[in-house]
Parts: sequence; C-alpha cells; structure tokens
Amino acid sequence: MATATNITWHTAAVSKHDRRLQNGHGSCVLWFTGLSGSGKSTIANAVSRELYRSGINEFVLDGDNIRHGLNHDLGFSDADRTENIRRIGEVAKLFVDSGTIVTTAFISPFRSDRDQVRALFGEGEFIEVFVDCPIDECERRDPKKLYEKARKGEIKDFTGIDSPYEEPENPEIIIRSDLLKVEKAVEEVLAYLQLKNII
Ligand code: ADX
Repeated sequence: MATATNITWHTAAVSKHDRRLQNGHGSCVLWFTGLSGSGKSTIANAVSRELYRSGINEFVLDGDNIRHGLNHDLGFSDADRTENIRRIGEVAKLFVDSGTIVTTAFISPFRSDRDQVRALFGEGEFIEVFVDCPIDECERRDPKKLYEKARKGEIKDFTGIDSPYEEPENPEIIIRSDLLKVEKAVEEVLAYLQLKNII
C-alpha cells in the first residue's frame, strides 16, 4: 500500500517514444519464468549476448544477482516472492521506459504476481517466456545442488519440492529447454522480437 503523500508525478522531458526512435528499435521486457535449473538465466544471457552483438540496448535482471542487492532483505516465503516480483516488475518498467530490451530471469512461481507485472505494461511490451523443463530434468541437472539440499530438508520452501510453481496459461513464448539447444531457444526469442517489429 502507498504510504507517501504530497508526491506529484513529473513527466519526463524525453519520452519512451523519443528513446525508441533514437535507438532504432523497440523496448520490452522478456519475462523468463520457470523452475530453478530450467535454464532461464542461461537462455536470457545468451539472448542478451546476441542483442548486444547487434547493437541493441539490452540488460539482464537475474534472480540470484538481484537478491544480493536490491532484494537482499527478501527470502522465499510466498509473501517475499510476491514482493520480489513486484519490485522487479517496477524496475523492468523503468528499463522499458528507458528504451531498453530488458530480460528478467526469476522463477516468479505465482501466476497472479506475473499478471500484476504484465498489467504495468502497455500492449505487446510484456513478453512472457515460459522455460518449460520437467522437474526431473531440473533435478538431474541441479547446477547449484539445491534440489539435493531441498530433498534432505536442508532448504525449506523450495520451488517444485515444497513450494508451488504455477505454469503460465498463455505465455507468448514456450521453450522446452530439455528438448532444445540454447542456440535454438535464442533463435526462437529473436524470431518473436522480429515478428513483432521490436528489433
Ligand atoms: S522467486 O521465486 O522469488 O522468483 P528468484 O528467481 O528470485 O525466486 O530466486 C530463485 C533462486 O534462488 C534459485 O535459482 C536458487 O538459486 C535460489 N534459491 C534459494 N532458495 C530457494 C528456494 N527456497 N526456492 C527457490 N529458489 C531458491
């Protein structure tokens, strides 16, 4: 809930539209969602690399990294995850206003949280990318050995084990990361951006 009073919105002298014109490309958020170990960060960073190589203004907001700084006060309760996603949504919106293609890599397990972020954006600006990978495969990969710890009860509220993951119902892009190589996943995302005339 908003607590500050006597604050007034100041309209920016340079608009999002101005920035897009100067950049020569659109801006949007590529919102990656999926289980831990599904490949969100890997694919998001590979997309970032390709966009960067093409001279496009882009940036990645990554779950583990943001939790070291901006969101270091948040844990993994349902309420903390909701607040985590709310803040990231607001930050992503600033990036989109700045003319950037921002890629976010957060589990973002709750549908209502993702939908609230979507509601912050204009038509076509929020692109939900579901990195769909069966939990067995995520657990087999277990790059940070967190599933192992969760199974032993050393981590509580671990997504997919004792905390839920709600799959997107209508994501703009679905990537079956257990079936697709990273390069192919990147191609899919770039093709979507081209189709929508964002790049
Ligand atoms: S979210 O649920 O709030 O969106 P976020 O993407 O920021 O999660 O952080 C997830 C990362 O935190 C995981 O990739 C993993 O490295 C780490 N992590 C630590 N504890 C947990 C937990 N209980 N559940 C899920 N991820 C956890």
